[in-house]
Amino acid sequence: MKRQDILAGFEQTFERAATHTFFAPGRINLIGEHTDYNGGHVFPCAISLGNYAAIGQNERHSFRLYSANFPQDGIIELPLAELNAPKRHLWTDYFQGMARVMAQAGAKFTFGLDIYIHGNLPDGAGLSSSASLEMLVGTILNERYQANFAPLDLVKFGVKVENDYIGVNSGIMDQFAIEMGRANQAMLLDTNTLKYQYLPIKLADNVIVIMNTNKKRQLADSKYNERRHECEEAVARLQRGIDIKHLGELDAPTFDQYTYLLADPTSIKRARHAVLENQRTLRAARALEAGDLATFGRLVSASGVSLAYDYQVTGLELDTLVSNALKQPGVLGARMVGAGFGGCAIAIVAKAQVPDFISKVGAAYAHKIGYAANFYVADIADGTKELA
Ligand code: GLA
Repeated sequence: MKRQDILAGFEQTFERAATHTFFAPGRINLIGEHTDYNGGHVFPCAISLGNYAAIGQNERHSFRLYSANFPQDGIIELPLAELNAPKRHLWTDYFQGMARVMAQAGAKFTFGLDIYIHGNLPDGAGLSSSASLEMLVGTILNERYQANFAPLDLVKFGVKVENDYIGVNSGIMDQFAIEMGRANQAMLLDTNTLKYQYLPIKLADNVIVIMNTNKKRQLADSKYNERRHECEEAVARLQRGIDIKHLGELDAPTFDQYTYLLADPTSIKRARHAVLENQRTLRAARALEAGDLATFGRLVSASGVSLAYDYQVTGLELDTLVSNALKQPGVLGARMVGAGFGGCAIAIVAKAQVPDFISKVGAAYAHKIGYAANFYVADIADGTKELA
């Protein structure tokens, strides 16, 4: 998609020219899955697929919102004075949620704005199209109304919208990666302290292939909340013997000594994933930094095994993609990304092998599942920004 297309879309919709354009990416996560609400580490990066917006001031004291991804909804008008109106159960809830949270934090929306949005992230694919929309809206409102919030404030507002307004108990990883991303770098974020570090993604002759199951993540939100609850339950049980707040505080030997307190097979599996995944993420980041791609790739695959067997957030579609990916020549590692239960997986693949990889994994998937998967070579991009 080009900036030109967004400008043209705005003009067609609102019958005048836009004045500003913005972009918010999607994200993938290299490793550190389901650790962000456990006080652990994540290692995500932003990708070049995402949401674009063209905007212009209006004279109506309202936001007028149009998304080319939901043309059936038409232009939705949200009066500036009615930000607290009930949700409409449309894509505009993300807009309304962000505007509301920012207004509560002191932003003053003193004039109306027309906003045209068009995204090229596959919808419901676990590449964080919703966090992308939140950060897009946050950045537009922050810039146009000179609200002067810091990037990390916008990140936290986005999480608040998910948790309190949309009703998904998600952690901070998606909004963080989408707001703070940098081209060709991943971010090692400690979700407990919010300290972070950029590390270059140096993959030599390899690329990251995103594999989309095209299975919509239905039920994902309720299962997600269930996993989160299981981890809280595990912490409560461990607290009978050891003073911790999060599973991310435990290293493997300490966890081993207190596992008996969990006394339940599901609880043991969930906690084991959270603890070992956090440790694995730190090792993987060090391996990537040291250029040890073989170790990095094996840790990525180990994360996938833990997500499939201990955390149980994969399913037939993701398992089919990942197991077939790992059989191909030139593959360093593969695993599901994001919340799971459908959505996308990633594989680290030798550049020269990519066409063959896509045709082999694609054929095996279609044969087993009955419909096609999609494949994209990831382009690691900047975070949310105004386009010049
Ligand atoms: C979703 C959530 C994130 C994170 C991942 C799993 O993407 O929005 O906060 O928990 O799942 O790692």
